[in-house]
Amino acid sequence: MKRVFSGVQPTGNIHIGNYLGALRQFVELQNDNDCVYCIVDMHSITVPQNSKELRKHTLDVAALYLAVGLDPEKAIIFVQSDVPGHSELAWVLMCNSYTGELSRMTQFKDKNKGKESAPAGLLTYPILMAADILLYDTDIVPVGNDQKQHIELCRDIAIRVNNKYGKTFVVPEGRFLKEGARIMALDDPTNKMSKSAENAYSRISLLDDEKTIKKAIMKATTDSDGIIKYDLENKPGVSNLLNIYSSFSGMPVKDIEKKYEGCGYGEFKKDLVQVTVEALRPIRERYEEIRNSDELVEILKDGAKRANLISQRTMVKVKESFGLGI
Ligand code: AMP
Ligand code: TRP
Repeated sequence: MKRVFSGVQPTGNIHIGNYLGALRQFVELQNDNDCVYCIVDMHSITVPQNSKELRKHTLDVAALYLAVGLDPEKAIIFVQSDVPGHSELAWVLMCNSYTGELSRMTQFKDKNKGKESAPAGLLTYPILMAADILLYDTDIVPVGNDQKQHIELCRDIAIRVNNKYGKTFVVPEGRFLKEGARIMALDDPTNKMSKSAENAYSRISLLDDEKTIKKAIMKATTDSDGIIKYDLENKPGVSNLLNIYSSFSGMPVKDIEKKYEGCGYGEFKKDLVQVTVEALRPIRERYEEIRNSDELVEILKDGAKRANLISQRTMVKVKESFGLGI
């Protein structure tokens, strides 16, 4: 069995981009692989957080993991800061990375735009991510396309260490979804849908009710030619909606185009609301059940215990390779 690892940050507003780009793959992979799924709270503190909110969001995301169908019998589910190996390994990797390669990361450049100085954690963020992955001898990392550069860096660091200090790490591979991997913002389809965008109608959160979903989709930016056709370059808004429709219904984009030939955007959008509401309904119902149960904390504690065992084995190898400790 292959080892699969991935992580999601515990910031609120987990949206359909996160679901279609990441969470849905997590669930598919758990049946045939040895999966480890993490809520990466240490990544969240690269920007200031409210402590109460952070812990709440950590539990929210854990409940969402379970609500979308992750099964703690099949996958290890835990919180990053509950396993000390992540920051321990991050330091070792930091000493084997270069500030040049880190400052070239587009996510860092985006977050740092127009600022004179940035928290060092923003720069070293991809190293903590590499530590997450390498700590579990990971073969496959399912993520959205936006993480490609970070995965490449992780591979470079692993290969670099293996060449210099002898085989220490498994070199992981990213698994990226092609179609539907990148869901764009509803109000501006040239930007990706994001948790942090100010306009709440730019995204559909996984727990949104029907009224909110309807408002967001009906307001979504399209264009003025009224034709339902996939054309990323000239019709990014409509293409994004087609993508969402196809991802939730399982219907190929070509068939959707045919179905709505000669229809206006209004009718298409109305149906998309229904498709989205039906896809999200079971997730919302299960979430309500799990979020307030004692079971949730027990699952995370047990997950951390199991993750710790694996990570300790890796750290023994790492310390051996580098000559650390006695
Ligand atoms: P984040 O929101 O940055 O914590 O991302 C969590 C996961 O969702 C990562 O695997 C991302 O690549 C993925 N993701 C985030 N935003 C999108 C999006 N708009 N479309 C597709 N995947 C996304
Ligand atoms: N950086 C990832 C994101 O923003 C989250 C993440 C942290 C992650 N550690 C990871 C994803 C390890 C995959 C594997 O989406």
